[in-house]
Amino acid sequence: MTRVFSGIKPTGNLTLGNYLGAMRRWADVDQHQADALFCIVDLHALTVDHDPARVRRLSRQAATLLLAAGLDPELCTVFVQSHVDEHARLSYLLECVATDGEMRRMIQYKEKSARERERGGSVRLSLLTYPVLMAADILAYGTDEVPVGDDQTQHVELSRDLAVRFNQRYGLTFAVPRATRPKIAARIMNLQDPASKMGKSDDSGPGIVYLLDEPDVMRKKIMRAVTDSASDIVYDREKRPGVANLLEILAACEGGDPEELSGAYGSYGALKKDTAEAVVELLRPVRERHKELCADPGYVDGVLRAGAERATGMARPRVDAAYRAIGLLPAV
Ligand code: TYM
Repeated sequence: MTRVFSGIKPTGNLTLGNYLGAMRRWADVDQHQADALFCIVDLHALTVDHDPARVRRLSRQAATLLLAAGLDPELCTVFVQSHVDEHARLSYLLECVATDGEMRRMIQYKEKSARERERGGSVRLSLLTYPVLMAADILAYGTDEVPVGDDQTQHVELSRDLAVRFNQRYGLTFAVPRATRPKIAARIMNLQDPASKMGKSDDSGPGIVYLLDEPDVMRKKIMRAVTDSASDIVYDREKRPGVANLLEILAACEGGDPEELSGAYGSYGALKKDTAEAVVELLRPVRERHKELCADPGYVDGVLRAGAERATGMARPRVDAAYRAIGLLPAV
């Protein structure tokens, strides 16, 4: 059976981008067709300036939202990264296989470190090695497929390179994973700045639809989305990014095609209104289930406990094999 692994980082409130680019597919497709693991990657949240209490709160919230979005612990494994030691153990071995040049070439490192320096802050070493920990997440489970949005493709490519290099040097240990992306909505853009990704760690609230926004807040944000001064509705991501983004969101919600949908609209107002309603309706059951789950924290704890146990059982033999293969003396 295909092994699927993916993760989500508790650095902010989860967004429509997270949902359409990743979570929805995990729930609708991956957990039914594959042996799938979904991880709240809290260690990754420590790579930038963080508040300990906030990371803890967001980790629990992310777990609750993953279940609210339809992940079923009977079908897949949901767990928190720091509950399974194998991730950190394997990450160190992979640091001994990766090069610093490879790390410095990563787009997200370049962007995030530049932003941090602009603010006058310092860059944590863990931000540089972030992709190695991500490779460890993936490789520890013998993962075949990694369902992600566009922005994670380069990191998954690196995981492939590290798997191949490790296997060549030390003997066949890891499966070589590949990224899978949704056909549409692989990169939902910020509603106020359609040149940038809708990212949960950004500060620009009005351009980001959060999964837990009230319906009226969602509507307002979408109705105020930046479009352009042309009046016709055309799907062109390069030249008309604001309109294209709305068409993609609508198509993703309704299961249509953004290009075809563009022909059905004569004004921005109508497009925005339908998009807003489609988003509100799509997320309504997620918000409702989230509320129910918040009233039952014991259930979420139980899912995470069982998930960590199952994940440890899956990862440990492979990570132990990697320790032996790379030349470490087994403990007696
Ligand atoms: P993260 O937490 O930023 O995002 C989680 C998932 O949501 C997707 N996504 C988007 N998709 C479409 N449009 C957007 N605007 C948008 N924003 C986010 C992301 O592509 C991702 O699939 N490094 C990862 C977490 C991670 C991971 C892993 C993922 C750690 N280890 C191992 C897969 C496998 C991250 O920061 O995702």
